[in-house]
Amino acid sequence: MIILGIETSCDDTALALLEVQGETYRILSQEASSQTALHKKWGGVVPNLAQREHQRNLVPVLKKVLEEADLLNKKKSEKGTPDLHILLEREQELQKKLSHFLSQYEKPPIDLISVTSHPGLEPALWVGINFAKALSATWNIPLLGVDHLEGHLLVSLLEEEKSNNSFRLLHAPEMFPALALIVSGGHTALLLMEGLGVYRMIGETRDDAAGECFDKVARLLSLGYPGGPAIAKKAAEKQSGEYSIVLPRPMIHTKDYDFSFSGLKTAVLYDFQKRSSQVKKSASYVRAMAKEVEQAICDVLISKTLKAVQEYGVHTVLMGGGVVANEHLRTELKNLLHKDFPAVLFRAPNIPLCTDNGVMIAIAAFQNWEQGKRTTTIQASSHTTISEI
Ligand code: KG4
Ligand code: ZN
Repeated sequence: MIILGIETSCDDTALALLEVQGETYRILSQEASSQTALHKKWGGVVPNLAQREHQRNLVPVLKKVLEEADLLNKKKSEKGTPDLHILLEREQELQKKLSHFLSQYEKPPIDLISVTSHPGLEPALWVGINFAKALSATWNIPLLGVDHLEGHLLVSLLEEEKSNNSFRLLHAPEMFPALALIVSGGHTALLLMEGLGVYRMIGETRDDAAGECFDKVARLLSLGYPGGPAIAKKAAEKQSGEYSIVLPRPMIHTKDYDFSFSGLKTAVLYDFQKRSSQVKKSASYVRAMAKEVEQAICDVLISKTLKAVQEYGVHTVLMGGGVVANEHLRTELKNLLHKDFPAVLFRAPNIPLCTDNGVMIAIAAFQNWEQGKRTTTIQASSHTTISEI
């Protein structure tokens, strides 16, 4: 089975082709067009700009993934242009590009088209969904909408095999119950997982997500967007004897598994405001603040995760989402888990699969397809529904 995964929930236009044969998953190709440079100016993602860029990038990225997988074949003769007026009536630019593409190239041997339906920025999600619908209708290939968070979670279960780009998806019964920590630019959540496709949300952020906090603090410190990698880099450069800054660890001692990061951002702002302009601009202050913010976020995430490991007696801890690209978070959680719960298995995705990508969407789609899920209508939504699965 060959699956096309399409991801446009935020600022990456990411597509992948995944082949599943028995227990083996092979990434045939994956490409992404990042909009970081465009959004950098605004210090965060601007939904309407993201929507416009997805319209521009989807067809070129599709062409690239097909080409890379050796599935792009020119038609012998151009057989008319498909009518996409109704499906892409709001995406004029995409409509033109896709019509032209479809009139030139043969239908590829894809068995399933999948697209992120939620959660995400609605204008951005809709472009991907309408694009996927247009491909599905023209090529007569089934279509499945999937949950972005499930994709982030499942890539942590990929185990690389000896041959290049081939994986197995770990799901042995003894791995469950598992606990999944999802941390991205839009979400911070702890989920209990009883098996593939069986989830229950036990905690989530009440305001800002952890990635959002990294991004907002980076903007304040003039470190650019996305903030997570920039803060991590500065934090790693901190030397001993530099400024001592102590930030709060919001909700670290509450009995629930919820998070709150907007207070942390405000605490950074207060510290920043009380410093002289000379200190604020100094490299040593920026390094010290980056280090403390990173540590405060990691402390809260790790403390709540370990508490849930204890309470629910889980056999595995999984991590997923862009913030999991943070080396400090990965290693500290792994080390503390091994120290306190040596029997618990730890899984985090390979770094390139932490941030948004098309592979995670194709994997989530395959799992849902295997479980008999079929799409009737796809609705874009900014809300997560993974707890209802
Ligand atoms: O999962 P993702 O690509 O998009 C969403 O679904 O939101 O996550 C993006 C987030 C951004 O907030 C970015 O700053 C953060 O992941 N991020 C990091 C690192 N790399 C990306 N945060 C901390 N450390 C990193 N190394
Ligand atoms: Zn994401």
